Amino acid sequence: MNDWNIIHIDEMNSTMDYVRTHLSELPNRSIVWADIQHRGRGRGKNTWLSPTGGLWFSTLFKNKGVSDAWHITMAFSVAVVSTLKMHSVDAWIKWPNDVYVKNKKIAGILVENVIKGNQISQIVGIGLNVNNDIDETLEDKATSLLQQTGERHSIKSMLTMIMNEYDSIDSKTLYERWSQFSFRLLCTDVKLIDVKGKIHKGKVMNLFENGSIELKEESGEEIFKAGSLIL
Ligand code: BTN
Repeated sequence: MNDWNIIHIDEMNSTMDYVRTHLSELPNRSIVWADIQHRGRGRGKNTWLSPTGGLWFSTLFKNKGVSDAWHITMAFSVAVVSTLKMHSVDAWIKWPNDVYVKNKKIAGILVENVIKGNQISQIVGIGLNVNNDIDETLEDKATSLLQQTGERHSIKSMLTMIMNEYDSIDSKTLYERWSQFSFRLLCTDVKLIDVKGKIHKGKVMNLFENGSIELKEESGEEIFKAGSLIL
């Protein structure tokens, strides 16, 4: 894990908020990693349960353009899936940035752009269920590496592997790898909730390099830049 500035703290509210608050002191390529988050945040208004035993961290990229946010997300999704595959877990990417094993979520990625003066930074948060218990309210929806392999894993090694995978990604093959890891969605019937909250029912026809998804609805084909999917 070369030239990353790593900050490891036992407990905090959210690594996303920590990075935001300390943005000016933290150098580019910082990692803030917590054992427990008391107010872990998911996409939208979701909370992210972050008890002990999971991998909860955020990375900071300074001076990147907003358009880079999607490529960073893609690269982290690929890095997480590759790392899980190295542990013989058949993980896949559920558009736009969830990592699933079969029909259960094992990891989530959250990207936030922060603009200060003329500097744009990206904070990327990753939550991976490793050895942590899965809350009983999420038993049908979420899984962990422990559940999938029957073994406990070192959180530090998972972090190192994900970051090494991230750093070794070749931008020329990124989209191809991301597509391969997302292929399960193609030709699947889904519901897509668009950014206005409207639900669209259809079949996934295509996933594009810029992060858009094409859905074949009864009314015709439509391309969405953002949203969330219900399988
Ligand atoms: C999602 O799938 O909704 C995104 C989940 C992101 C969770 C991670 S855990 C580390 C970082 N800190 C947070 O508060 N959230 C992200």
